[in-house]
Parts: sequence; structure tokens; C-alpha cells
Amino acid sequence: MHEIIEQLDQKRELARLGGGQKRIDAQHKKGKLTARERIELLLDEGTFEEWDMFKEHRCTDFGMGDTKIPSDGVVTGYGTVNGRMVFVFSQDFTVFGGALSEAHAEKICKIMDKAMQVGAPVIGLNDSGGARIQEGVAALGGYAEVFQRNVMASGVIPQISMIMGPCAGGAVYSPAMTDFIFMVKDTSYMFVTGPEVVKTVTHEEVTAEELGGAVTHTSKSGVADLAFENDVDALLMLRRFINYLPLNNKEKAPIRPTPDPADRLDLSLDTLVPDNPNKPYDIKELIVKTVDDCDFFEIQPDHAKNIVIGFARMEGQTVGIVANQPMVMAGCLDIKSSIKAGRFVRFCDAFNIPIVTFVDVPGFMPGTAQEYGGIIKHGAKLLYAYAECTVPKITVITRKAYGGAYDVMASKHLRGDVNFAWPTAEIAVMGPKGAVEIIFREEKNDPVKVAEREAEYKAKFANPFVAGARGFIDDVIQPHETRKRICRSLVMLRNKKIENPWRKHGNIPL
Ligand code: HXC
Repeated sequence: MHEIIEQLDQKRELARLGGGQKRIDAQHKKGKLTARERIELLLDEGTFEEWDMFKEHRCTDFGMGDTKIPSDGVVTGYGTVNGRMVFVFSQDFTVFGGALSEAHAEKICKIMDKAMQVGAPVIGLNDSGGARIQEGVAALGGYAEVFQRNVMASGVIPQISMIMGPCAGGAVYSPAMTDFIFMVKDTSYMFVTGPEVVKTVTHEEVTAEELGGAVTHTSKSGVADLAFENDVDALLMLRRFINYLPLNNKEKAPIRPTPDPADRLDLSLDTLVPDNPNKPYDIKELIVKTVDDCDFFEIQPDHAKNIVIGFARMEGQTVGIVANQPMVMAGCLDIKSSIKAGRFVRFCDAFNIPIVTFVDVPGFMPGTAQEYGGIIKHGAKLLYAYAECTVPKITVITRKAYGGAYDVMASKHLRGDVNFAWPTAEIAVMGPKGAVEIIFREEKNDPVKVAEREAEYKAKFANPFVAGARGFIDDVIQPHETRKRICRSLVMLRNKKIENPWRKHGNIPL
């Protein structure tokens, strides 16, 4: 009996060694942790239940029959993060470069299936050379099995990808279908084709880091949501991030008690909006001063900075924040910002997270670059997302809400539940200058008349009361009471229920 127990221990020890000490050392030398070290950091101490530790590949080609390593390049199982259940897979680069075999894919699929059955998030820690080359189509099939599950789990359980090494070729499409992609700076990269292929096909010379590193994907492409300094930083932030989310689409996010009073006033907000309507101000100041404990977890801070998105809490309840940023492109909506915010709104809606929208938007970005790039279709994504969304929606217009962008930004007409405006709000088809240039074109050479007309237009529309008179604004509030009024509204909306008509699925303008 004791012999068998010892054998088990030995087998476990062998599995824990993965591709061997030499490769573990090489992994450490690159500044990377091993697959198991990562799981230990991510999960609450001692909670990891590992599955399929003894699973091996079944390949016999290219001498693979003699190189079977238990766990087959991925560590899978479940455990808790701050006491809440999550499923996790962590690819082991020390075993065949973390490459995905049929057996490796089966392990991932097994935990995904169970996560769906019990309603818990799946976290993938990706560090892989892609499809296991020796296995050919069996590995490709394995990927497709994972992809199919990614799609079935979308909107049912949160799926989060942390890219902690290579992620190349078709392998990128599993993370791409998860809700959030995080990356580690300098040690991770994602691309469909690597620098060599790029050079052959397009004659461009580019490094892996430039092509698909963390900075590229969090600033240029917007593929990744956040970049972290190193493995430890990344995993600790992931633990923090998970706290904002519900475990599945039938639950609400956990309430975290806060000492921050719901009726806290902030008088500094009364002077946040400058007198000059063309002067910018930082919308993040409003966000931070409004939410619990000034704690705002921003998503995609370096991409499409003209819109700000992220998670925060109000009276302990998770909310999604969407806000135009007057500091960047005057807060105009363009292609990138529409896509960024549209996807975020849909995530919040899928997972019962109320949305608070702060509006200061002069309109959609004009120009050929935007029109040729399809701003019509892409802008419609954000419009569609807000209109479809059934979670509580609270909107605060701080200054400009012009044109189509007024409609899009969670207006009353798109089933905004509570729509507030600050006294500084200007809700109109466009700004005074543009409006006068069009409707009083014949007076354009008379500066006195133009100034008069602008003043007239301003007096009539550059305020929240015209919209208020129609009920498009529920109340005009003092900036300093913004937190209090949002908190009250959220309490009122706690049991909100509306349903969209039955359909197989809508046809969002992709
Ligand atoms: C099998 C692989 C592998 C793979 C790496 N290894 N990638 N084994 N299949 N895809 C092995 C290496 O042979 C090596 O084994 C070990 O992993 C570490 O690899 P190194 O090359 O020494 O590491 P490094 O220099 O850090 O380079 C990492 C790498 C490189 C950039 C990932 O290994 C690489 O380019 N691999 C091939 C990537 C690739 O083309 N994958 C297929 C993509 S297409 P030893 O025994 O020496 O330690 C794809 C299609 C998916 O994935 C389609 C889905 C629809």
C-alpha cells in the first residue's frame, strides 16, 4: 500500500517538473513564472484542485511516442479567488513550448464544460507556441473544440485571457473570443503571422514586440485591454479585476461594503466644467470623485482615449462606467471609441452590471479617414449596444450632448432609466457657431449679426432646460450631488426588469 502511495507522490513530482529543471530555469531567466507558479499566485492559497495531471498525448509520429510528459503542457483545474470559484488553465511553456495537442485541448475543454455547468468564470493563462506541429490536424481540431466552447460560453460565464508568452497563428482566436485580454509587457506577444512571414509577404521589417507586443495591442490595435509590468503584477491585478464580476450571467456582481457614504457631496465638482465651452477638463476627475473610495479600474486606458471605460462601485455595487473624455479630440466619438465602448456596454449588459454614462460629446468625428473607415457602421455598434441593453442605465450630461452623439450616449430615447444633466449641459443638434453658419448663412458676412444670432442660439439651446421641458432629462442636478443622485437611482433600479422581444439573435452591425 505504502509503495503505491509513494508511486503517486513520485508521479506527481514528475508532472510538476514539466519539461524539466533546465527549461524551468530558462523560463525564470526570461522573467517568466512557470504554469504552476502562476496558478499559485492567482488562486487563494491551497484552493487549487488540479485535474488531469496524468494526462498524456497520444501522438506517435516524429518520435513523440518516447516523449510523453504528464499534464501535456497545460495545468488545469479550479480554485477560488477571494473565496469565489474560478476555473483555470495555465499553459506550460517548458513542455513542447506549451504547444496545444489534442490531449492538451481536451483538458481545456473539460474545465470549460464544467465551468459552464456550475456557472463560474474561466481564466486562461496563455503561454504557447501554438498548434503542436507533430500532431497536425489533431491539434487544429483541438483548437476548434476550444473555439466552439469560447463562443458557447460567451455571455454566460466571464472568460478572461492573460497572455504571458507567445500566442501566435490561429491560437490568437481563442483569447480573441474571450471577454478581456490582458498581457504582460516584454514577455508576451500576439499575432496572426509572425515577423518572418510578414517580411516575406509584405516586405515590412518589424520585431515581434512591435508587431504584437503588449504596448502595440493596448495602444494601437485595442486587441488587449491592459498591459502589466510582469507576471506577479499581472496575476495580482487579475485577482482584483475578478472581484468586479459576477460568476455568471444569472448572478449579480458581489457587493463590497464601503465606508464611503452614498450621500457624500463633492463641492469641487461645481467648478469642474470650465466657463469656456472649448476648454477641456479631465472627465476622470469626475469619475474618481463619484465612485466608491475613488477607486476606478480603467480598461483600455491607452486606446481610443477619447472615451473612458472601466469598472467601479457605487454603494458597493459594481457599475460599468462609460465617459466621453474632453481632453482627447474634444471627446468626439470616432471608429475606435465606438467599438471600445460598444463592446464594453455589451459585456456589462450580458453580466447584469448597471451602466453609468457621463456625457460631454460634440458629435461624431468628421473627415474622410472616418467615413472611409466606416464610422457609419462602427458608430452604429455603440448605438446598437446601448439600445439593446436592459441593465440599469444612468446618464449624466455634464456639458455638450450634440447631434447623433446625444442620442447614442444612453439617451432617454434609448431606454435610459435616469437621465440627469448638470446646469452646464448643452443639448442641441450642434454647437452655436456651426448652427448659425447653416441656418443664417445669408448673414455670414455681418459679424455683428452673427454674434447676435449665436447669442440667441446659445440662450435657447445651450442649456439643459429645453430637453428638461420635454422630459428627456429627468432632473437638472448640482454637480456636487452627482454621487448621491446616482446612488439613489441605482437603489431604485435594483430590481429593474425589462426584456427584449424573442429572437434568435440580433444583427449588430459588425
Ligand atoms: C511543437 C513546439 C512548438 C509547436 C515550440 N515548440 N513551438 N513544439 N509544436 N508549435 C517547442 C520547441 O521545439 C522547443 O522544444 C520548445 O517548444 C521551446 O521552443 P523554442 O523555439 O526553443 O523557444 P523560443 O526560442 O522561446 O521560441 C518560442 C516560439 C518558437 C516563438 C513559440 O518556438 C516558435 O516559433 N514555435 C513555432 C510557432 C508556430 O509556428 N506554431 C504554429 C502556429 S500555427 P525543446 O524540446 O527544444 O525545448 C497555429 C495554428 C493554430 O498555431 C490554428 C488554430 C485554428
